[in-house]
Amino acid sequence: MLLEVRDLRIAYGDIEAVHGVSFSVEEGELVSIIGANGAGKSSILNAIMGLVPSRSGSIRFKTAEISRMAAHERARAGIRLVPERARVFPRLTVMENLRVGLYGIHDRSREEKQLEWLYSLFPILAERSGQNAATLSGGEQQQLAIARALISDPRLLLVDEVSMGLMPKLVEEVFTVLQELNRQKGLTILLVEQNALASLEISKRSYVLETGRIQFEGESRVLKDDPRIREAYLGL
Ligand SMILES: Nc1ncnc2c1ncn2[C@@H]1O[C@H](COP(=O)(O)OP(=O)(O)O)[C@@H](O)[C@H]1O
Ligand SMILES: [Mg+2]
Repeated sequence: MLLEVRDLRIAYGDIEAVHGVSFSVEEGELVSIIGANGAGKSSILNAIMGLVPSRSGSIRFKTAEISRMAAHERARAGIRLVPERARVFPRLTVMENLRVGLYGIHDRSREEKQLEWLYSLFPILAERSGQNAATLSGGEQQQLAIARALISDPRLLLVDEVSMGLMPKLVEEVFTVLQELNRQKGLTILLVEQNALASLEISKRSYVLETGRIQFEGESRVLKDDPRIREAYLGL
């Protein structure tokens, strides 16, 4: 397993939001956690990245226990997060935002190659390269946030609700890019989403999170046909 989470609990003050969840992601897999607003999806990703502390439980990445490591150490180990609402630096240009993702890479020629690759993956970013990120549309900022996370070649990409606020056509485009990164580059992806249908369609396995607990798990195509999931999450 590349990532193995066991009995993870997360609390804000006295209030526990995640009540002991366990799940895993294999190298090369695309796994999703689906759940309604407030289920605890962002808390889980933030705890894996080291942005919120876990109350208890273990998070193993590769062979190391990382739950007490600082966020920058986890980043150095190869974990990257595309945060909810695509937080980019509004006053930096698109190119400068991308370079923020580079820490660790000092090799100029590799840096240029990465930029070229990202600009081919997201052509709109090439066009907007010199513009302040504040001038981008929501969908473009979302693409920039993904590109910034990809620039340093992560081993594990965590994607928080990338479909939020995007038009359906753009959701499809962004999800297609994620799926291609997984299939063609073998990138390991853990994504969390309220958009259950789209997530079940692109992921291999899924976990269904309800108020801080995993209620269902399995192959996405099987979950998609499960009447309980269809009724509660797919509105079918
Ligand atoms: N910084 C915080 N302080 C207090 N409560 C929080 C904080 N962040 C999240 N929560 C609470 O934790 C629960 C899970 O939130 P979150 O992880 O953001 O869920 P999701 O991403 O699935 O919408 C919610 O009840 C939310 O109100
Ligand atoms: Mg969230």
